[in-house]
Amino acid sequence: MIRIEFSKNKDNVINLASKIFSEFDLYWFKYWLNNGKLIECYYDNSLVGFCLVLIRPVIGIKGGIIMYIGVKESHRRKGIGSKILSFAENYFILHKCDSAFATTRIENKAAISFFLKNNYKGFLIDCLIRRMENGFKLVRDLHAYEDDILFIKKLKNVKINLYELEECYFL
Ligand SMILES: CC(C)(COP(=O)(O)OP(=O)(O)OC[C@H]1O[C@@H](n2cnc3c(N)ncnc32)[C@H](O)[C@@H]1OP(=O)(O)O)[C@@H](O)C(=O)NCCC(=O)NCCS
Repeated sequence: MIRIEFSKNKDNVINLASKIFSEFDLYWFKYWLNNGKLIECYYDNSLVGFCLVLIRPVIGIKGGIIMYIGVKESHRRKGIGSKILSFAENYFILHKCDSAFATTRIENKAAISFFLKNNYKGFLIDCLIRRMENGFKLVRDLHAYEDDILFIKKLKNVKINLYELEECYFL
């Protein structure tokens, strides 16, 4: 049985994250732990996934940011990541966020397919930096210095200017 809830034991999650992330990502994951809200997912009472989220303004709109999401390797492709993501989005909706944001690197094919499958729209960050007046601010707001693709999912019917930059669409 799957159970998703806000975290009570950060050490367990750090332990699982250390098996999923590189040293670089783990360092920043631990750094953001103190600022974000941590979600954990159990399958038959064993920790199998987590997500670190943050609510903050992103280019003038109220953003719900998926800072990190991870599922234990043995439990992937079973819909667990999507269930955790949906839990995070409901938290954003409860807090009246306009949009959900996530970023990833171009070589992370699993993450790219994952966000596209979950109805996120992808944008090439390099293109946004060149084409948007506040493109670098967007990167800073999301702390996406190492990432190549930005994913956005509107949670409200708000106008988000970067949707007009069709040349920056990913796919
Ligand atoms: C990305 C991640 C969280 C997905 O978790 P998951 O539980 O496997 O995701 P789901 O089972 O809900 O997958 C939903 C859809 O995403 C896509 N997807 C997920 N993993 C994929 C893979 N390895 N290759 C291709 N598509 C993939 C598929 O479309 C999948 O639907 P399907 O299985 O019906 O084809 C997981 O792969 C992971 O922990 N990766 C390492 C950490 C990471 O890179 N996190 C993202 C950046 S912080």
